[in-house]
Amino acid sequence: MHHHKLAIFASGSGSNAEQIIKYFSGHPQVQVIAVFTNKPQAGVIDRAEKLGVPVVVFDRSQLYDQGTVLQELQHRGIDAVILAGFLWLVPGSIIEQFPHKMLNIHPALLPKYGGAGMYGMHVHRAVLSAGETESGITIHEVNEEFDKGKIVFQATCAIEAQETPDSLVQKVHDLEHLHYPRVIEEWLLPP
Ligand code: GRF
Repeated sequence: MHHHKLAIFASGSGSNAEQIIKYFSGHPQVQVIAVFTNKPQAGVIDRAEKLGVPVVVFDRSQLYDQGTVLQELQHRGIDAVILAGFLWLVPGSIIEQFPHKMLNIHPALLPKYGGAGMYGMHVHRAVLSAGETESGITIHEVNEEFDKGKIVFQATCAIEAQETPDSLVQKVHDLEHLHYPRVIEEWLLPP
């Protein structure tokens, strides 16, 4: 039985990481090995620890200069990397070790509203001020450019007349939690 060992990268509260960890807990072919974060105070640390998942905290130098993060991934036998609210660009030295084995989730319908600076509420404010009638999520493979990899999955939500950034972020989060774990499973284990 081929076993997939996942690492989740997150910089924030980690609600997506939590859903993914819970979804794969006890899964026969997929295991979440560790959560990696660049923020020592990130909420994802507490969520991972509560769920018994090891956490690796790193800084810029360990990610971009010393190769520490890549070494941590390799010696844990990680074979796929899931970005869930990770706000730094993944260095090419790591991406090239995981060709077509790294996913990211973006809270909008790429290719619009993506790229540097387009994260969190910035995305939802841009979508609303553009007068869009729908938004949603994009799950895509990661390559060297922000939000440019092959799109694996998209889901949409309607934008109502009175929509605010706060109401839209909740709708988008609900889509993320509903779809990301299953999309990861189908991407790793094509039916
Ligand atoms: C999500 O909106 C995701 O689309 C984006 O960052 C956010 C992560 O939220 N990449 P959380 O930390 O998983 O709650």
